Amino acid sequence: TKIAVFASGSGSNFQALQEAIERGELHATVELVVTDKPDAFVVTRAKKFGIPVLALNPKEFASKAAYEATIIEELRKYDVEWIVLAGYMRLISEVLLTAYPQHIVNIHPSLLPSFPGKDAIGQAMAHGVKVTGVTVHFVDAGMDTGPIIAQVAVPVIDGDREATEAAIHKEEHILYTKALRQLFES
Ligand code: GRF
Repeated sequence: TKIAVFASGSGSNFQALQEAIERGELHATVELVVTDKPDAFVVTRAKKFGIPVLALNPKEFASKAAYEATIIEELRKYDVEWIVLAGYMRLISEVLLTAYPQHIVNIHPSLLPSFPGKDAIGQAMAHGVKVTGVTVHFVDAGMDTGPIIAQVAVPVIDGDREATEAAIHKEEHILYTKALRQLFES
């Protein structure tokens, strides 16, 4: 299964997926990493693995539609079948949704529909929930709203954001690999 990973930040989920692929735990190839932040650390990680990077600044395009159309052109060159969002901090528009129907997935660090959007871990801790978690879901036009594919619960470690965050990221890396394996096999 040929995939593209979209990321705007550190790229730890990208790296976890690539490592799972290399261990033979996920039958896929990351053909391309797409980023809207040319300075993001994910670019360094992708280069280390020898994976091509498409780094575009959305501000340099006349519209979001034009930006996504350029991405689609590149995805087609690599015969990409699935788009895997991993910390990609932008809503996906109808242009990409139409080009890849039911083939765009996202991972979010909460038990959706609780705490969508930015800083889900901070939101959960501020709310005082004792259990949060990770969700893998299909992407639609909304913010973290598409149909849920897989979830795992993670306890909040009281008053310790750093430890809670580490526990969530660890579970993300496991859950994304598992969920994608099941999707690609079915
Ligand atoms: C993850 O927590 C993911 O769930 C969220 O953004 C974060 C990305 O982390 N959507 P990384 O860039 O993969 O390290």
